[in-house]
Amino acid sequence: KKKKQQPEEDEQQQPQPEEPTMSKEEKNAIVDAAVAAAKPFSYEDVMVTPATRDDFGDYQCNAAMGLAKAVGMNPRECATKIVERLRPDIQDIMEEPEIAGPGFINLRFKQEYLAAAARAMAQDAQGKLAIPPTSNQKKIVVDYSSPNIAKEMHVGHLRSTIIGDTLCNLLDFCGHDVVRLNHVGDWGTQFGMLVEHLRDEYPAALNKETSQDVDLGDLVMLYKAAKKRFDEDEDFKTRAREGVVKLQAGNAEEIAAWESLCAASRVEYQKIYDVLNIKGLEERGESFYNPLLSGVVEDLEKQELAVESNGAKVVYLEGYEARDGSPLPILVQKSDGGFNYATTDLAAIRQRTTIAASEGGEEADRVLYVTDSGQAQHFDMVFQAARKASFIPDSVSLEHVPFGLVQGEDGKKFATRSGDTVKLKDLLNEAVRIAGDDLKSRNEDSSDAAFAERIDRVATIVGIAAVKYADLSMNRESNYRFSYERMLSLNGNTAPYMLYAYARICGIIRKASGQEGSDGDFEWPEASDVIISHDTELELIRNLVKLPDLINDVEQSLYPHKLCEYLFQTSQKFNQFYGACSVNNADTPELKASRLTLCTATAGTIRLILNLLGIQTVERL
Ligand code: ARG
Repeated sequence: KKKKQQPEEDEQQQPQPEEPTMSKEEKNAIVDAAVAAAKPFSYEDVMVTPATRDDFGDYQCNAAMGLAKAVGMNPRECATKIVERLRPDIQDIMEEPEIAGPGFINLRFKQEYLAAAARAMAQDAQGKLAIPPTSNQKKIVVDYSSPNIAKEMHVGHLRSTIIGDTLCNLLDFCGHDVVRLNHVGDWGTQFGMLVEHLRDEYPAALNKETSQDVDLGDLVMLYKAAKKRFDEDEDFKTRAREGVVKLQAGNAEEIAAWESLCAASRVEYQKIYDVLNIKGLEERGESFYNPLLSGVVEDLEKQELAVESNGAKVVYLEGYEARDGSPLPILVQKSDGGFNYATTDLAAIRQRTTIAASEGGEEADRVLYVTDSGQAQHFDMVFQAARKASFIPDSVSLEHVPFGLVQGEDGKKFATRSGDTVKLKDLLNEAVRIAGDDLKSRNEDSSDAAFAERIDRVATIVGIAAVKYADLSMNRESNYRFSYERMLSLNGNTAPYMLYAYARICGIIRKASGQEGSDGDFEWPEASDVIISHDTELELIRNLVKLPDLINDVEQSLYPHKLCEYLFQTSQKFNQFYGACSVNNADTPELKASRLTLCTATAGTIRLILNLLGIQTVERL
């Protein structure tokens, strides 16, 4: 019966069609609101976006089409109204807006504005390229790298490290307060078997006095040996289980052994960070949150979010099912009382967002987690649980920043020829070696020690840059095929290409400003008035002035590949300019100074972005 009544009720509730209920004032108010939203031409406003094609201008506003319907005007009429309102606010920097097609509004920078903006960029080329800091400063925690103690630091951790570092650099550049946290896996059941294995093989590691001096050798081998015993030997397994309990209870021997494992691992991954030039990453491992875990579970139970299931404690969330269709909960406490990866993340969320800095927390507004996409569901569930339990203020943004797998050139699992996992140290060394060989082959040989030293230094920069850039220039969400050949190629969107482009512009500036012979640091010329005398100059500048939009975009989207795309475009625009316009032999001194200014602004832009990507530049290659 009820079902039949439903449609009738619905029909009655429907508004009467096509009654023109909106007054002229109301319509204008809507247009006003749209115009207000369209100011002041920042990329953040959905109303105004960068033009999809260069010949459409610099920005476009497509609001009129959607708006027209809502206010019952025709779209062109609506666009005209928007333009009328907009004009006074933009006329200093924009040409008269152009209404195209059904009601697209195309906006184009005035040349005077472009010239002034390029000059301002050149003036601040060694600084922030005239980009003001954000007016909306946030505290942002970035959780990245995060290898696991006594286990291999693998290519996934490499990706996390490189992407995380770039995002931190960028957010820091924007003026945010960035905290870089290394959520190392330094706690959990695997330590039971490791500690018990040490008890037999390296007893000195269990003594606080001697544990720091014990050389544990290859930790991965150690892990494998311990795991083998755990899998094969029942007695050992029992000891391992008891070991975890003792460790978690803070028993001295187990703690000493655990600390020696952590210290040995730390030495290993610090080597990788040093090669990659990763700085400011603070170790804040899982163990840090250990004292907070029982409180998390108690709170969840109090709110009746955590319930018993086969002796364990779990939280059910909407929308998650196991393969067999049964509801899939998150496990927050095992039946033996131990806690889980998810429990630690729940504790960490609270610590990072609600605990005051004076009490060791972060009070962050935004928390980013840079891990492989395989952990997407884990983070989805943990975020949802944290919100349900009101562990965090609504305004806090928790974001998983996922990335795809690293694959071999054949698209299969990334491995050595014999099928073993590739050690990160070997991988980085190999890139540096190939870069060095290439440099040697293209430079006249010299037995000079200074020459060899320089090649080594530059090869390290180029090799590491290649590994980073190859990773960052791909959309992080796709899987990425690791290829030394591609990443070290001098052509295409690669680090060597960009580094050479940068060094070449430096060379042009050196030459044109009469510093040809100078080695080492050279003086950047003063910025002068910019004269736009050729199309290629115009196009280069139009590209340069989009830098702030790009930064804003990545600040939100967290896609480093957009930085690389822009870099590549910039260098292409520069090449077109340089191909068509002589700097050194420009017709007038003013034009020469202007073109030098463009070179400086371009070099500054390239250097800035490479630095954000964690890549050092060299002025001479
Ligand atoms: N240690 C983890 C791994 O190797 C990554 C940790 C990511 N961060 C976190 N808060 N869960 O996969």
